[in-house]
Amino acid sequence: MTHTFPEHFFWGAATSAPQSEGGQYAGGRSASTWDKWFELEPERFNANIGPEVTSDVYNRYREDAKLMSDINLNSYRTSISWNRLLPDGKTLNEEAVAFYRDYFQSLRDEGVEPIMNLFHFDMPWWLMEKGGWESRESIDHFAFYAKTAFEQFGDLITYWTTFNEPIVHVTCGYLGEYHWPKVNSLKRAIQVAHHTNLAHAAAVVEYRKLGLDGQIGNILNLSPVYPRSQSEGDLKAKKDAEELHVKSFLEPTVKGKYSDYLIDLLREHDLLPVVEEGDLELIEKGKVDFLGVNYYQPIRVREVEEHEKTYPVNSLGHFSRHYDWPEKRMNKYRGWEIYPEGIYDIAMMIKDEYGNLPFYISENGMGVAEEERFMNEDGMIEDDYRIEFIHDHLEFVQKAIAEGANCFGYHLWTFVDCWSWLNSYKNRYGFYRMDLETGDRSIKKSGKWIKKVIEEKKLLD
Ligand code: BG6
Repeated sequence: MTHTFPEHFFWGAATSAPQSEGGQYAGGRSASTWDKWFELEPERFNANIGPEVTSDVYNRYREDAKLMSDINLNSYRTSISWNRLLPDGKTLNEEAVAFYRDYFQSLRDEGVEPIMNLFHFDMPWWLMEKGGWESRESIDHFAFYAKTAFEQFGDLITYWTTFNEPIVHVTCGYLGEYHWPKVNSLKRAIQVAHHTNLAHAAAVVEYRKLGLDGQIGNILNLSPVYPRSQSEGDLKAKKDAEELHVKSFLEPTVKGKYSDYLIDLLREHDLLPVVEEGDLELIEKGKVDFLGVNYYQPIRVREVEEHEKTYPVNSLGHFSRHYDWPEKRMNKYRGWEIYPEGIYDIAMMIKDEYGNLPFYISENGMGVAEEERFMNEDGMIEDDYRIEFIHDHLEFVQKAIAEGANCFGYHLWTFVDCWSWLNSYKNRYGFYRMDLETGDRSIKKSGKWIKKVIEEKKLLD
């Protein structure tokens, strides 16, 4: 079987400013929550490696743009650092403007379309001290930041996105201890989600006002939710999980409103957020031109037994519990399920339920711990497992496109191995390996493979 891809397709890779940029306090940048957290609790970070140890894109962006073009990538998604562009939230940092303009131009010069995101889990510390996303102030601050970015870089960037996986800073920061401020409160998490939806919409409003020649979207992790069985209880768990994890951002982003189901579910458990006058009108204005879809693994759920529930409801575990599917195929190097069909199911959901809105796969990838063990005698990582992973997912992307899905690209997480939150450098993802000592890049087998796939616009079996 030959799997061909459209003539115009975004082949690329993704990363984010806090995970790749470096230059922690260079050029006037102020601290984000990650910088501060590492100062306060370095032991929480794998091997005590904090956000200052990155792939140093701040100094290496020209080299990287060239390496991308060497393997035929024609697009790249990263983010702007809010606390670099506006170190105190108000004053424009001219050095940052010069850096980003040259960075984006270098990508363009190599034929690489920069797709630019605004927020990738990196809340400026000064704003966190005022309450972060819990404070309504954050909405106006974010809108101002977005407007500034559009004004400064609107001529170089055609594709903008507001957030990366907004549900993640909600759940990891307010229902766990994976992001600062390490709070555990469902009610507060839901308020944060509402403010995030408002901030997204406010940025879209700013974008439309400027009348730029481009598009604006949002990057969501639309993991499909599969129930253990077709029993009434399991199906209800699936529906609840889908609404809470996926549709809480998808519905406002595409349809401009929250679903009735979600509102009823939250009301039933006294979990509705504070909604002020004008909020729902603002959310209505946040409809996007396209979606970025991040997909790693599906969510599998089962019904929650009555004895497992606690009252008052203060956890998402009240609505559904993880179901360990015995037939699952695993990425044993990262502990995540591999289920390529999921990417097809998401594409079909967007086609059937969301007006076939254009989307691209903005993240998909295979993390591998201790990847050095796969290095051959010439010093190249032979990542056949990653080639197989990408191949299998691309097969389903191709099938979805053949059936009418409006998918315009595929980005691997990530281009060159990058730093990752509490995991630091534990899991490697890149087409290029990064030597942690020297920062030097070297191509992996998957980098060579993708070059050929892009050249031929088809999968090589
Ligand atoms: C995605 C995030 O969900 O997962 C990235 O957008 C993150 O920021 C990636 O790095 C991989 O996660 P991890 O923990 O394996 O590095």
